[in-house]
Amino acid sequence: MKEVNPIRFEVLNPFENFTSTPESVLSICEIKSFLRKDNAFNKIILYSSLESTNTTAKGMIQSDASPGTVILADSQTKGRGRFNRSFFSPPGHGIYMSILLHLNQSCFNHHPGLVTLATAVIICESIEITTKKEPQIKWVNDIFLHGKKVSGILTEKVVDRENNPWIIIGIGINFSTPAHAFPVEIKDTAGSIFSNDPPRITRNRLIAEIINRMFPPYSLDAQRILSEYKKRMMLMGEETLITGFGNPFKGKIVDVDEAGRLVVKKEDGQQMSLSTGEISSSMCLS
Ligand code: BTN
Repeated sequence: MKEVNPIRFEVLNPFENFTSTPESVLSICEIKSFLRKDNAFNKIILYSSLESTNTTAKGMIQSDASPGTVILADSQTKGRGRFNRSFFSPPGHGIYMSILLHLNQSCFNHHPGLVTLATAVIICESIEITTKKEPQIKWVNDIFLHGKKVSGILTEKVVDRENNPWIIIGIGINFSTPAHAFPVEIKDTAGSIFSNDPPRITRNRLIAEIINRMFPPYSLDAQRILSEYKKRMMLMGEETLITGFGNPFKGKIVDVDEAGRLVVKKEDGQQMSLSTGEISSSMCLS
């Protein structure tokens, strides 16, 4: 696999009406120009195309990886999401990155259950500060803007050959993918940060903001993560449809607990805490 910097790529169908400008090129130099000096990341590796940045990260952890490595690709041919779903990852318009951390030495060391939640907050804060847009979070790992999913997180735990625990935080963001370019199966639910308006920032700027927030020189504050997460959470207090546990069932979202679990009140009044699964508006039932 070849490391490239900066990369250039051709614009292919269905993006033929989109011009590739210098601003649309991923560049390690530009990313680094926005990074804080005390940032504890280790290195950034940029590929023009990979099957999946998370899959490459897994391979690196089994061979020779340094904690704090960030793997970026301009496109993915087998981008993965939760529940074995694929993540649409065309070139030129998205952010596909994996962050490799030694679980015990990262800012998440005291709160490993909150990695996905903290990442969701980091993505939202990064979008807000750089674009002034206001994304929302759908428990547990989806980021929405104007009712469409613009980003997803795939966190995977892996042990290396010495049995050290690592986490791979995979982040996918539809940055400027035009609405007409999404495959038909997701065109009603997927969106991008800049779908109608031309991007006012580069992908490099947003990537740098995420890295800056992902590598603070201190441990993360669990209370702050939870309160920032809940502030942006969709469907809080609403009747929802819960899937991923055999038969789907209805329940009202009551809270997110200290371990990041979703607290749901079922129709029979029973309360339960879910550590995985998926929620959608109960309107989907009818
Ligand atoms: C989801 O929507 O369920 C999660 C999507 C996560 C996609 C990102 S893109 C970078 C990293 N590499 C992958 O194959 N998946 C994650």
